[in-house]
Amino acid sequence: MQRLPSAGLLEAILESLLSIMHIEPKKIITQRTARPRTPKRFEIRSSDIHGSGAFALRPIPKGTRLIEYTGKRITHEEADARYNDYEGERHHTFLFSVDEQTVIDANREGNDARFINHSCDPNCESVDEEGRIFIEAIRDIAAGEELFYDYAYERGGEEDPKDEKHYACRCGATTCRKTILAPLTDETEPEDR
Ligand SMILES: C[S@@+](CC[C@H](N)C(=O)[O-])C[C@H]1O[C@@H](n2cnc3c(N)ncnc32)[C@H](O)[C@@H]1O
Ligand SMILES: [Zn+2]
Repeated sequence: MQRLPSAGLLEAILESLLSIMHIEPKKIITQRTARPRTPKRFEIRSSDIHGSGAFALRPIPKGTRLIEYTGKRITHEEADARYNDYEGERHHTFLFSVDEQTVIDANREGNDARFINHSCDPNCESVDEEGRIFIEAIRDIAAGEELFYDYAYERGGEEDPKDEKHYACRCGATTCRKTILAPLTDETEPEDR
């Protein structure tokens, strides 16, 4: 059976090639092996707000880009067909609506971003960069704090108290609007309220 050359052997070959080419091998090899790795910034564990949540493992400065919200990109029609939003008493989804065409389904090909819960007084925000969604810190975050962004689920303008209950927020912030639906605006405020 043919065996692959070991990393040591490959490194030795590379060093000889570099010395033939009069290139300082140590410099290149040091750069390759000493590339700094970003230490893990948060972990996923049980949350008092809902299910699992993301918690800072170290202080996170304002402006830090924490993670991309990944998943399979699907249409709203596919999302509606695949997931029944009204299944169960309370709403639960791993979908992120990017725009009128696209929804990111973090149930498939998703990463830890899908565990970041909602708060009405968040320490993070979602940033849309040409259709890719990133979660970034909007203030300095202390180690141990749970990470949140405001889901602000889009309203159709016809939500009733049953919907508000279905999308109830349990973030506990003093400014909690009691729903993970977007704040009401002149356009989305029902006329009979
Ligand atoms: C993307 S998941 C977040 C991870 C979730 N905690 C879990 O363990 O699956 C989104 C769902 O979490 C729940 N959730 C997140 N933040 C919430 C909050 N502030 N109040 C109530 N439910 C929340 C809702 O059910 C929402 O549909
Ligand atoms: Zn809230």
